[in-house]
Amino acid sequence: MSDHTDIESVLKEDRIFDPPADFAERCGGAWVDSMEMYRELHRESIEKPEEFWGAVANELDWFKPWDTVLEWDCPDARWFVGGKLNACHNCVDRLIDLGHGDETAIIWEGEPMLADGPEVRQLTYRDLKDEVSRFANALKALGVSRGDIVTIYMGMVPELTIAVLACARIGAPHSVIFGGFSSQAIADRVDDADSGIIITCDGAWRRGSTVPLKDNVDQAMEMTDRIKHVVVLKRCDNDITMHEGRDHWWHDLVEDASDECACEEMDSEDMLFLLYTSGSTGKPKGIVHTTGGYLVHTFLTSRYTFNLRPGNDHVYWCTADVGWITGHSYIIYGILQNHVPTLMYEGAPNHPEPNRFWDICERHKVTHFYTAPTAIRAFMKWGEEHPRRHDLSKLLVLGTVGEPINPEAWMWYRRVIGHGRCPIVDTWWQTETGGHMLTPMPAATPTVPGSCTLPFFGIDAAVVDEDGGEQPADTGGLLVIRKPWPSMLRGIHGDRQRFIDTYFSRVEGMYFAGDSARRDDHGYFWIMGRMDDVINVSGHRLGTMEVESAIVSHDAVVEAAVVGMPHEIKGTGIAAFCSLGPDWKPDEALRKSLREHVAKEIGAIAKPDMIRFTDSLPKTRSGKIMRRLLRDIAAGREVAGDMTTLEDFSVLANLRSQDEG
Ligand code: WTA
Repeated sequence: MSDHTDIESVLKEDRIFDPPADFAERCGGAWVDSMEMYRELHRESIEKPEEFWGAVANELDWFKPWDTVLEWDCPDARWFVGGKLNACHNCVDRLIDLGHGDETAIIWEGEPMLADGPEVRQLTYRDLKDEVSRFANALKALGVSRGDIVTIYMGMVPELTIAVLACARIGAPHSVIFGGFSSQAIADRVDDADSGIIITCDGAWRRGSTVPLKDNVDQAMEMTDRIKHVVVLKRCDNDITMHEGRDHWWHDLVEDASDECACEEMDSEDMLFLLYTSGSTGKPKGIVHTTGGYLVHTFLTSRYTFNLRPGNDHVYWCTADVGWITGHSYIIYGILQNHVPTLMYEGAPNHPEPNRFWDICERHKVTHFYTAPTAIRAFMKWGEEHPRRHDLSKLLVLGTVGEPINPEAWMWYRRVIGHGRCPIVDTWWQTETGGHMLTPMPAATPTVPGSCTLPFFGIDAAVVDEDGGEQPADTGGLLVIRKPWPSMLRGIHGDRQRFIDTYFSRVEGMYFAGDSARRDDHGYFWIMGRMDDVINVSGHRLGTMEVESAIVSHDAVVEAAVVGMPHEIKGTGIAAFCSLGPDWKPDEALRKSLREHVAKEIGAIAKPDMIRFTDSLPKTRSGKIMRRLLRDIAAGREVAGDMTTLEDFSVLANLRSQDEG
């Protein structure tokens, strides 16, 4: 159908955009070039998953081939059973063996703008292999061996990727903690993972100042005694304290380390990493991903979803932080395996000016750009003039992930960044799914703003009712995956029951993602949002209970309820309703102190956008907090629906009459 880019059409529904006619040619070819091909391949992949995924896995290097592609005993999946391989080998050494050792693997740009421009580092596959091997040997020298969980808490520097790959090389699962988390969050994760070593930086550059990563680690060490070694990368020349015997400088450790380090032969089902994410209860859960299936899935989704062509023609940039699953799968593992340079940028999108991202795209000739709706909404707010100043003509594919994208942001992305010539891939997936689940194929799928369109190959996604029956078109329901896929989570670290309860109990025999969705009459999926107590703040997942327990750990607060509220940039903001102890005054100073307290307990991303004080929270007669009601109040909506179970109506009047803060 037609391609409208004028503002009139922006407000009309049902806009359908076919892939631009010259897209495949501009890309140098397309992996999936028509809807017929997509449908045919999807059907085959569902009917014969073993054949489909086996063929993909054959493109990777295995030290020993697998005996069976899949063993499935719900909820336990085992992929490429009996196969032996190494993730680092497949991301680095394999490409060298194929003759690409001198080609660029990583392009990195630092945040600070120096007199002659920002610092840029390029690493070839061979450079990467040497650096990874040296650091892997350094880890071994500190006593790290196969199976030991290594915690990583760093800024976006090349050494972060090097550390991740070094762990993979020696078979030590990594647990990366986003640099925005607090010392308490570090300590909790270190304890849960029983990790004895943490890799950090003296600091991380962010918007012209530095985040004190090492100080945070020092504080975390007062809350846990598990850590025996702290490795510190010097990045900001910050003034930090080094603890004799415990702390080691990265540069000292690698100085004399050999650049030869053999890759461990890992079982396909050995753990590759743990990544903590928020759930419905207060405690974050360590999502377990294993080696073979994860590599195969991230390899194929990277190739098809972004239509990556191997070689140096493409430059791929995902703006996520490696601390999230998007960074694991689509900065590191998926992209490196595809022999396409992956760009890492250290800092903020608006430093020193709001044009920074577009400046990076122009200077590095970025062809693939993957970001989150919250970022797009910020760019819209900052104004078109910033991207307009730059040559974005190299861009081929635009991606989005992390939260539902509002059609206005989608249209702006397409028009202002893509100049109408780049398909947008709206990719739905989760920490738990490891890789893309619902996404367009850029050269094939007609796209509709706001819909993540259709399932990836091998993915049997459906919208069902509580009994597992498929919902008719345009009817909301639970988004489930009915068959196993290679990169699915294998468990929650140390909590088998929670794994079963969270993902495989709501609908018998199916993976329930926690999201609700509907399908339109073309079968396209529309994500409606989380059905559990998880909120998506700027594309970052947070549990409302996690924020509540942080708030009630403040002396002033007796009880708190946290809900999501609409937020112009963040998509969802955090609203907290608090009742206070008798000696506390509900004032601005207390609001500020509560916000700071939450930042200390979890991290700045969890600071409430609105705090309301109340004598009591609205409850049912059986004592359950009526969150639906609070959501209406937080959104400034008329309180709707059935309130007959509300225990005390005066609570409501009270809450509504309050000033915002
Ligand atoms: C949401 C991020 C709508 C969803 C990769 C999911 C999305 C949660 C999309 C997972 C999308 C992610 N459209 N919603 N394209 N992508 N989500 O684990 O609610 O940080 O359950 O993984 O983000 O967040 P997570």
